[in-house]
Amino acid sequence: MSDVEGLKREAGITACSFVRSGMKLGLGTGSTVKYTIIEIGRMISEEGMDVVGVPTSESTRELAESLGIPLMSISEAESLDLTIDGADEFDPNFSLIKGGGGALTREKEVALISDSMIVVADDRKKVPVLGKFDLPIEVDQELWSEVSEAIRLSSGVESTLRGGGESPYVTDNGGFILDCKFGPTIVDPANLEAQILSIGGVVQVGLFVDLCDAVVMSTESGVEVIINPVGRLP
Ligand code: A5P
Repeated sequence: MSDVEGLKREAGITACSFVRSGMKLGLGTGSTVKYTIIEIGRMISEEGMDVVGVPTSESTRELAESLGIPLMSISEAESLDLTIDGADEFDPNFSLIKGGGGALTREKEVALISDSMIVVADDRKKVPVLGKFDLPIEVDQELWSEVSEAIRLSSGVESTLRGGGESPYVTDNGGFILDCKFGPTIVDPANLEAQILSIGGVVQVGLFVDLCDAVVMSTESGVEVIINPVGRLP
């Protein structure tokens, strides 16, 4: 296992200390939270833990099913005790960029109905200001070029269609993804999120504000649990 993979695994597994029997859990998407899901599968089969998961993508659903984790859909769940998910960046205010794996819309739906959200990440994801990672935006297939142009006109920011015009990446919801090159300039993510959501054709934006309650961050010297002082965890 490479160093980075080892860090992802450590963060993913450590986050399971927040999981309690009886919980309804949002199961995120990505290469870090994959280790959380595998550990939850182990806790169910070896320790008899009783949880139900709501997957945020088809890939997470397949993984969770293969591990025997009981699942329900977002609409069946109504509310969740806890969501554990990865992030592409997090800032000092616990605001996030997500969507590198293309699952941002369902990830946000799940986060919004959760009592709390924990992010699992290695320390490469910690940034002073969001935006070095291209901001993913899910858009209607028919309107991607209009949205791209609207973002260029309103923010002066260029975006690329994920996968390219010949074979664009299609999300689990049937949308396309625009990756927007803001650079490390996103000092007011809530305002930018609202601005982008007001553009016709935008399905969801990969900015998560006031949703993350803690980051379980692995570093070369160990795992740090950083609790959001104004978050919802006791
Ligand atoms: C999926 O759409 C994303 O939001 C992921 O949670 C995010 O990209 C982090 O993924 P990794 O843990 O694979 O870096």
